[in-house]
Amino acid sequence: MRDVDPVPSATSVPATRLRVVAPDDPALPAGPHGLGVGVGGPLPDGVPDREALGDWGFAGRPGQTLVLDVAAASPRVLVGYGAEATPAALRDAAAVLARALGHRATLVTSLAGAAPAGDAALAAQAVVEGAVLGRYRYDPLRTEPAGVPLTEIVLVVPADRVDAARAGAERGLVLARAAALSRDLASAPAGHLTAPGLADVAVRLGGAAGLRVEVLDRAALVDLGCGGLLGVNAGSAVEPRMIRLEHVPAGPARGGHLGLVGKGITYDSGGISLKPSNAMHAAMKMDMTGAGSILAAMTVLAELDVPVHVTAYLACTDNMPSGSATKLGDVLTTRSGRTIEVVNTDAEGRLVMADAVDLVREAGVDAILDVATLTGAALMALGPLTAAVIGNDDAMVHLVEHAAELTDERVWRLPLDARYRPWLDSEVADLKNLGGESAGATVAALFLAEWVGTTPWAHVDIAGPMRSETDDAWRTKGATGFGARLLVEAISAYGER
Ligand code: BES
Ligand code: ZN
Ligand code: MN
Repeated sequence: MRDVDPVPSATSVPATRLRVVAPDDPALPAGPHGLGVGVGGPLPDGVPDREALGDWGFAGRPGQTLVLDVAAASPRVLVGYGAEATPAALRDAAAVLARALGHRATLVTSLAGAAPAGDAALAAQAVVEGAVLGRYRYDPLRTEPAGVPLTEIVLVVPADRVDAARAGAERGLVLARAAALSRDLASAPAGHLTAPGLADVAVRLGGAAGLRVEVLDRAALVDLGCGGLLGVNAGSAVEPRMIRLEHVPAGPARGGHLGLVGKGITYDSGGISLKPSNAMHAAMKMDMTGAGSILAAMTVLAELDVPVHVTAYLACTDNMPSGSATKLGDVLTTRSGRTIEVVNTDAEGRLVMADAVDLVREAGVDAILDVATLTGAALMALGPLTAAVIGNDDAMVHLVEHAAELTDERVWRLPLDARYRPWLDSEVADLKNLGGESAGATVAALFLAEWVGTTPWAHVDIAGPMRSETDDAWRTKGATGFGARLLVEAISAYGER
């Protein structure tokens, strides 16, 4: 197999040149200039009336673009942002614009100037995130890149907003890097990114980012009694890894010690409960998106001076059928000592996460946030645009909901309804790993809740939004990196109230 850099975005995104200039700045380069236009409200200076734009089918709606004066040295490219120039609308518009100008290495836009003056930093941040993520392509396995990489972003804003916009733009580039890193990891085929390979990336990137990184190999997991992770790994030709990441803030920590848990299934074949060979199975190289988004988010915490003590455990293995694989009816003993009857080897995420939750609790955390591509039921209930959030603690769920609002990685709360807990009762063990036919996302969360205990906890099931079928605003076709930006914002806000 071709030897490739598993995380090209770690170098390419920070190399993106950012410039923030006022409209009359002599350094403003020639070439197309992207202008934001809303459905209502004023038009940018020098743009003809709405009726004329309407004749060309342009109303300022999200997704619309219109090029004016194509033959000029600096053609104007109008891009719609819809009803209101919110950060989310500008992020989407920047992504559409960056793809419309996909043949240019430099993007010049005054989109961020469409926001109210007080939002200058957030608007610039959103525009940079949208531009970088909208132009993202996973190229390491092609002989030629799929398009022209975006190497420079020039934001044009009113002179009195330049400083605020520059700070926002820089933060945007850091957040975009985190999301792009998560996309790199999820896009890498299972043959190119195994659990040991993912651990190597964690050591390299985590070390460079100032994290404490510890990797537990198979022998260490046997010593620790991590029968959940070992049970899922039993059919594999490759060793599992439990990756521990710790961010210790430079100054005093705020709000206690936050624990993170990520599902890191580098390939989910279903195991003996083998999945059919369909599109969903083909997407199962991405079943480590929870772990990938946590790793990506953790690599930017020091750079952003996030004053929160965070410890993460990423439970990594593939899930394979073989003569040595866990069989239906087998009983696993997890780190906690509790036993699980495996009635379906495709419900593997909760098995590896049980051990990770136990380890993070032993680290003495005050709250737990987990991110996992856990259930097809979450995808069926909420579709590819929205993650499910479920928790035992309103404050932790609200932390996720508020972060999701900032990043536009949308979430919707589902209930942790204890009346379904008996569905997990086993005839022979403490629990079985699958409930009934319905409420799959809730029942999976009820399973995790057994290991979480009374620790305040929120669980984010990203099975739906881990992937996009189309180029849709900042979500490019393929891996979305969902959760990486959301985690950075959630961790940043932890303990604030
Ligand atoms: N990794 C899958 C869940 C998933 C499905 C993620 C689609 C992303 C997109 C999980 O391990 C799984 O296989 N869940 C099954 C369990 C069932 C067959 C017992 C599911 O939810 O369908
Ligand atoms: Zn899975
Ligand atoms: Mn599965």
